[in-house]
Amino acid sequence: MANKAKQDAIALLKADHRTVEDLFEQYEKARGIERKATLAAEICLELKVHAQIEEEIFYPALRGKIEDDMVDEAIVEHDSAKVMINELEAGTPEEEFYDAKVKVLSEEIEHHVEEEEKRSEGMFAKARKTDVDLDALGEELAARKEQLKAEMKANPDRPADPTTLTTVG
Ligand SMILES: [Fe+2]
Ligand SMILES: [Fe+2]
Repeated sequence: MANKAKQDAIALLKADHRTVEDLFEQYEKARGIERKATLAAEICLELKVHAQIEEEIFYPALRGKIEDDMVDEAIVEHDSAKVMINELEAGTPEEEFYDAKVKVLSEEIEHHVEEEEKRSEGMFAKARKTDVDLDALGEELAARKEQLKAEMKANPDRPADPTTLTTVG
């Protein structure tokens, strides 16, 4: 997207959050297995790409500049979301509990986004007070996002990879 206006890191990540919130809303209103399956796949793809660019680029840039606990908790929340994302990707909306899993995932994401966006106390607000170059970071995030989207679309069955979980199940 060559002519897309450049966004700083926080604007880009917030825009991703809005995209996913909108997809969750559409899922809630959706009727029909196929429509739900399409939306669930989009939700999972968006979340996997977003989590990975934060983990690879954004969170490491903030390490040592904001509280470690805040970054650690964010990563653990991502991992817990990835477990649910992998469940959704392995299942279909015909299954019992599928809608409930989507709903619970949306609630987890809502909480996580609040931690990132909270006014003055949130991670993004804290990032703004550091000397991190958010414009340069935004470009890096955008480039990696395009790359990952293409990769994930080419390999839709590859599960998300939790980074901190040592045991699952
Ligand atoms: Fe985020
Ligand atoms: Fe996050």
